[in-house]
Amino acid sequence: MPRFYVTTPIYYVNDAPHVGHAYCTVNADALARWHRAVGDEVFFLTGTDEHGQKVARAAEEHGVTAQEWTDRLAPRFAEAWAELEISNDDFIRTTEPRHRQAVQRFLGTIYDNGWIVKDTYAGLYCVDCEQYYAADELVDGNRCPVHGRVVETLEEENYFFRLSAFQDRLVEWYEAHPDAVVPESKRNEALSFIKGGLQDISITRTSIDWGVPVPWDDRHVFYVWYDALVNYLTAIGYGEEGPHGATFERWWPAVHHLIGKEIIRFHCVWWPAMCMAAGIDPPAAIQVHGWLLVGGEKMSKSKLNQITPGELIADFGVDAVRYHLLRDTPLGSDGELSVEGIVARYNADLANNLGNLVARVATVVGSKCAGVGPAAPASGRLARAVPGLVDEAVAGWARGLPHLGLEAAWKVIREANAELERVEPWKADPGPVVDDALGGALEALRLVALLVSPAMPGTAAEIWRRIGLPGVPGDGGPGHELAWGGYRGGVGVEKGPALFPRRRG
Ligand code: ME8
Ligand code: MG
Repeated sequence: MPRFYVTTPIYYVNDAPHVGHAYCTVNADALARWHRAVGDEVFFLTGTDEHGQKVARAAEEHGVTAQEWTDRLAPRFAEAWAELEISNDDFIRTTEPRHRQAVQRFLGTIYDNGWIVKDTYAGLYCVDCEQYYAADELVDGNRCPVHGRVVETLEEENYFFRLSAFQDRLVEWYEAHPDAVVPESKRNEALSFIKGGLQDISITRTSIDWGVPVPWDDRHVFYVWYDALVNYLTAIGYGEEGPHGATFERWWPAVHHLIGKEIIRFHCVWWPAMCMAAGIDPPAAIQVHGWLLVGGEKMSKSKLNQITPGELIADFGVDAVRYHLLRDTPLGSDGELSVEGIVARYNADLANNLGNLVARVATVVGSKCAGVGPAAPASGRLARAVPGLVDEAVAGWARGLPHLGLEAAWKVIREANAELERVEPWKADPGPVVDDALGGALEALRLVALLVSPAMPGTAAEIWRRIGLPGVPGDGGPGHELAWGGYRGGVGVEKGPALFPRRRG
């Protein structure tokens, strides 16, 4: 059975989650759900990044200890994901004992292997990024290129990871695994950074104590990124004996990291090198996504332009929010988020196309077929047109691109609506023509429910129920074939309230 281990970045708990975090998490969730539906073995991990200066400062500003602060904030992420119906199998917090152990084991191994050495370093540091910058990377002379925050000069004696020694091996790895980082533009960005020459990285701190202690020198804690990246190993039992150790072998390196484009360097340069230094394979796949922008600017906690996922859910419903995030901004591109944009897509795709198809089919089955759905016809326009579109949707999902899966599903919806408008079964007398038209539309709805269930699980299940099918789409039960003709008919079709009432503004 193929295995799919999918991860999101673990989010900083300096503030509550915003829609940018939801974007990544919902995409990872949809991919996890798709892989489960096709029968793959799936492990889906998300969580929170709780150490480091940024979080320590947030706690200080609120007059509480770092531990109290993270204990207060981590549940806000877990709650937001519950509201968004995220199906993660684990939620990791970097302050958990299991993580401290894994970090110490992993970095202890790298130290034992001779890739960590002591040295002194002075540099320009952005606390928001938790990263040093070279002077020529700064904007306006002294500002971080991501946050526009004025960088600070830090000088420390500490331990360094000998990243520079991995330059050639990283280039070889990229060449041997041309699809490990997608999209290609992001792969090229990472590769050219590597080819430009790598500096060793300072990976411990003595200036703060909010972190995982360095096992061989307890005056130091690990630098937050070197702590955070290891979460992907902690959750699958890295370094543990027995059943958990077996879990690690099971899931690694068959991992699929979904990350935002601002953390490419950490995931696509540092992380594979760290894995090599510890003697494990680098991650199999890293998929980079773009940013949601508000008024052209990256939505971020330091800019205060964030919209909360909860506000959107209260307004539009969870599936409409999930759909919007998955459909409107293709993975890999940036997207502008606005209420106008959400309303426009909601009305066009959900209220009109999908909602309309569901409503009219149920209404006409009620008036012309006594509420009993006819079987899918073996031939006809839909029987010819739909299978190719289903293949297109499946291919989109399989490529890890939900917007392509959904785009193709909406082509099925449009074909089905167009065919009903051509035949106009509501004007015809009951009989074979009406049965074929409605059976075709019901079969289209069955397939659409299967194709959209990773994106909108609740809506797909409701369509499934209304057209009289047992179980839920994606559970692999009867009626799950993706080939045309799975709707056998003879079951009650229910007309319910509008799935997506039209919105005015
Ligand atoms: O970087 N648009 O955490 P973070 C789209 N703790 N995605 C966005 C976004 C936006 N406007 N804003 C945030 C960290 N994201 C580290 C990660 S992993 C070992 C450690 C998403 O709270 C996107 O996926 O800053 C981005 O990479 C992630 O949140 C960063 O979250
Ligand atoms: Mg960030």
